[in-house]
Amino acid sequence: MYDYAKILELEKELMRKERQIEYLQLELKRYQAVIEELRQGTRPVGMVQDVVENNAYVRLEGGQLYEVTIPPHLKEKVQPGILVVLSPNRGIILNVVEKRFTEKSLWSLKVERSVNIYYEDVVGLEKELKELRKAVEWVLSPEIRRRRERIIKDQRLLEEAGSVLLFGPPGTGKTYMAKAIAGSLSRYGQKTAFIKVEAYELVSKWLGESAKNVRELFKLAREEAPCILFIDEVDAIARARTEITSDAGRDVQGMLNQLLTELGEGFQVNKDLAVIFATNLPSVIDPALLDRIRKIVYVPPPRTKEEVKRLFDFYLSKVSVDPEIWDGNSLRTEAFEELWNNIKRRKLIYETSIPFKNIRVSDEYWITPRDVKNVVQEAASDAAFQGLDYVTLDKLLEHVKGLTLEKSFQAVFL
Ligand SMILES: Nc1ncnc2c1ncn2[C@@H]1O[C@H](COP(=O)(O)OP(=O)(O)OP(=O)(O)O)[C@@H](O)[C@H]1O
Ligand SMILES: [Mg+2]
Repeated sequence: MYDYAKILELEKELMRKERQIEYLQLELKRYQAVIEELRQGTRPVGMVQDVVENNAYVRLEGGQLYEVTIPPHLKEKVQPGILVVLSPNRGIILNVVEKRFTEKSLWSLKVERSVNIYYEDVVGLEKELKELRKAVEWVLSPEIRRRRERIIKDQRLLEEAGSVLLFGPPGTGKTYMAKAIAGSLSRYGQKTAFIKVEAYELVSKWLGESAKNVRELFKLAREEAPCILFIDEVDAIARARTEITSDAGRDVQGMLNQLLTELGEGFQVNKDLAVIFATNLPSVIDPALLDRIRKIVYVPPPRTKEEVKRLFDFYLSKVSVDPEIWDGNSLRTEAFEELWNNIKRRKLIYETSIPFKNIRVSDEYWITPRDVKNVVQEAASDAAFQGLDYVTLDKLLEHVKGLTLEKSFQAVFL
């Protein structure tokens, strides 16, 4: 009478959808908060050109000149050359922009000059790492660049910065791979700096300043070259831009345009600069930006039992392990089977698409590399805390079970 297989299938589907909703609601809250913050904080900013009695002439980033009132308490501070914040209808000066907003030192804090992660630290992802290297090393590796310049004689064909988009579920090694490139190039080629920013950080509270942030960031990256500029959570740009009719939305549009301009600069300008973008949510990234990015690479979670085993072996090889379960290089089969029986109870799903590029991925998995690292790290700290000499199977099991207790769902990205 009943088609149980079908009912089960539908129930499963329902559960998945419910979880998607749960996740998307969380995401929505996060973005609403950001938009609200932008709305409240966004004010036009401009530079004082001249002061005449109680009025100032202020030029906004966009070039328009306004005559505005200087409130008495700011009279002393407002002078030509100073950045000021105007009221929304540009009638009066609300505040004077503190100096730190006008200095690039904000970004220079982000520069890492000696990354110590290398290719051999990346477990699995052979194909992905190779693709990423191909996209980045023709710009950054002196050897490959020399060869390329010998083959390509017309400078104009050498164009723009090497740019890549990495997408995939959280904790699968996007940031890690990008760092491994900076580390390995520094070791085998020439010192390569690594600058990491979250797209959120570029969105300024001050109108017109977001584009300027992008400009300054690229300026810094060029000064630091050879350099990998890593822009994380790049979906945030697309999200914040949805409010295109508001000042905030226009501001983010300006920032996106600036990003496109910087990426499109000639080879001489972006010499020795590679830009890597990363996101969990590629579906919302602006098509214009996607078009500028040379290569898109999916960074998948571990998809087989063997891949999970390799991750455990890799991280356990960095700590002392009970000889009962460790043969010097890898976990003994029975021990891993026991761990595996617990791991496989967890189910995570990652689904997303980039319609514009005809890309669609869908993966079910149990554990991420980040989880494996955390399990081993925590098991090791526990062991130390309890005065044990090494990590035991019990400890590993305890932390693996801790993972499965967490919601057996992380996110579905549509
Ligand atoms: N392929 C891997 N091999 C070994 N370790 C890995 C691998 N991927 C991730 N890890 C470990 O997990 C940690 C987290 O990875 P990473 O920060 O690169 O994740 P991510 O993909 O950037 O995630 P998110 O989307 O949350 O930013 C790394 O610091 C590293 O220790
Ligand atoms: Mg990351």
